[in-house]
Amino acid sequence: MPRHLDKLLDPNALAAYALQDVDSVQGMFQSGAVSVLWSAMELQDEYGISGDVAEIGVHHGKLLIMLCLGLNLGERAIAVEIFGNPPGSNSAGKEQFLANMARFGIGTENFELFMADSTLITSADWQSMTGGNVRLFSVDGDHSKEAVLSDLALAEKAINAEGLIIADDLFNPWYPTVTEAIYDYFKGDPKDLQPVAFIAANGPVETGASKLLIARAPMAGRYKSGLKLLNQDNLKHCDPFAGFKDVPSFYFEGLPSKRPLDDAMRDILNDIATPS
Ligand SMILES: C[S@@+](CC[C@H](N)C(=O)[O-])C[C@H]1O[C@@H](n2cnc3c(N)ncnc32)[C@H](O)[C@@H]1O
Repeated sequence: MPRHLDKLLDPNALAAYALQDVDSVQGMFQSGAVSVLWSAMELQDEYGISGDVAEIGVHHGKLLIMLCLGLNLGERAIAVEIFGNPPGSNSAGKEQFLANMARFGIGTENFELFMADSTLITSADWQSMTGGNVRLFSVDGDHSKEAVLSDLALAEKAINAEGLIIADDLFNPWYPTVTEAIYDYFKGDPKDLQPVAFIAANGPVETGASKLLIARAPMAGRYKSGLKLLNQDNLKHCDPFAGFKDVPSFYFEGLPSKRPLDDAMRDILNDIATPS
């Protein structure tokens, strides 16, 4: 039986943000990514997955706010953002981020901001700074190949057994180094992580780009089944990638959308998404 978790904030705020309020925050987060992340967050609740949420490269908080609005009691958000070079020199960016978090009712007790260059944070640092129990980790900081590999390695250690990594900008022509890094990441030393879903870009490149969801192998099938069910109308095809079979690709033409996770859907999910 799924363990239903109690929301930290207004339980309707996540849907309101996904459907409307997200447009009021400047940043890079397109409607296709909103739709699939919204589904992934519902699936985590349904599967009883708990832990913190985290993002490297929060900018003004457009994506992180959505993760925060899905927090459950006892969870918090971890934000890593350099805010200029030297770190913190973009004080206007930091102020805008903090104002946006406050505007959505996310109190300072609900998140921790590390104003730092993420590539200088080791896994041991992360563990002692945060406790290292993350269920959703967005990697969207420095887009150089070395930095993406470093941030992915940090995320890999930080997520818990059932956690999900959101890797930004795969296949974004503005950042070929990100594609190179993610491909090399999977082609390098064997790891227990697998690609779970591609979310295709669906807007001008200034508004964001495609994303890849990644999970540990024992959870990958459950996430794939759930995402295909909740986003069936926008599932385009499944392809092999970097040696992994059947990675679903989602593409959304318009506004954020997903099927509701109602009792009928729950029955189907219980049938198809049993643990591997
Ligand atoms: C594409 S933006 C992120 C967009 C954001 N995720 C959103 O929801 O709109 C990339 C962010 O990464 C930050 N950044 C770049 N290099 C970084 C580093 N080494 N460590 C931490 N943050 C970094 C930038 O300051 C910038 O705000």
